[in-house]
Amino acid sequence: MMKWLSEWWRGGTAAVEPASARDAQRLAQLHGASFAHGWGESEFEAMFSERNTLIHRLRLGRKIIGFAVSRIGADEAEILSVAVDPSHRGRGLSRNLLMTHLGHLAGRGVRTIFLEVEENNQPARQLYDKCGFVVVGRRERYYKQPNGEQLNALLMRRELS
Ligand SMILES: CC(C)(COP(=O)(O)OP(=O)(O)OC[C@H]1O[C@@H](n2cnc3c(N)ncnc32)[C@H](O)[C@@H]1OP(=O)(O)O)[C@@H](O)C(=O)NCCC(=O)NCCS
Repeated sequence: MMKWLSEWWRGGTAAVEPASARDAQRLAQLHGASFAHGWGESEFEAMFSERNTLIHRLRLGRKIIGFAVSRIGADEAEILSVAVDPSHRGRGLSRNLLMTHLGHLAGRGVRTIFLEVEENNQPARQLYDKCGFVVVGRRERYYKQPNGEQLNALLMRRELS
C-alpha cells in the first residue's frame, strides 16, 4: 500500500521504452538541461534517422524524464549520452533506464560497450559502476567547458555476455 501511494505521489512507475523522432524536441530540452554543450532538436532528429543509433526514453506518466543514446558498430557500441531530468534525479531511475538499454544492445548482437565520463561526475560514475562498467583508460583535459576549464575523462568498458 505504501509503495503504491509513494509511486502515485511521484506520478506512477517509470517506463523505459524506445524513443521516436516525435520525442526529439523534449530530448534536446533534457540534454540542454544536463550538459554544457547541449544537442539541438535537429541533432536528435538526425540520430533517429541513423539505423545504428539506439535511443530509449524514460517516461513517467505522460512526461519524458530521461533518455539513453548509443551508437552501434559491429559487435561494439558506445554510450553517447544518458540523462535524467534534474527534478527527478537521485531516485535511482537511471539504473533501470541504462540496464534496459544495455539489454537491447545485447539483443542487437553487441558484445562490448564503451563510454566516456567526466572524472568528477560522481552520480554518473556511481551509475556506471553499479551497471558493471570498469575504468580502462583516462584522457587528460578532454572536456572543454564554456568557462575555459578543462576536465579529465575516464574511458569505461563493459562486456555483455
Ligand atoms: C547521471 C544521471 C543520469 C544519474 O541519474 P539518477 O536517476 O539521478 O541516478 P541515481 O538516482 O540512480 O543516482 C546514481 C548514483 O549516484 C549517487 N549520487 C547521486 N547524486 C550524487 C552526488 N551529488 N554525489 C555523489 N553521488 C551521487 C546516488 O546515490 C546513486 O548511487 P547509489 O546507486 O550507490 O545509491 C543524472 O545525474 C544526470 O542526468 N546527470 C546529468 C547528465 C550526466 O552527467 N550524464 C552522464 C554522463 S553521459
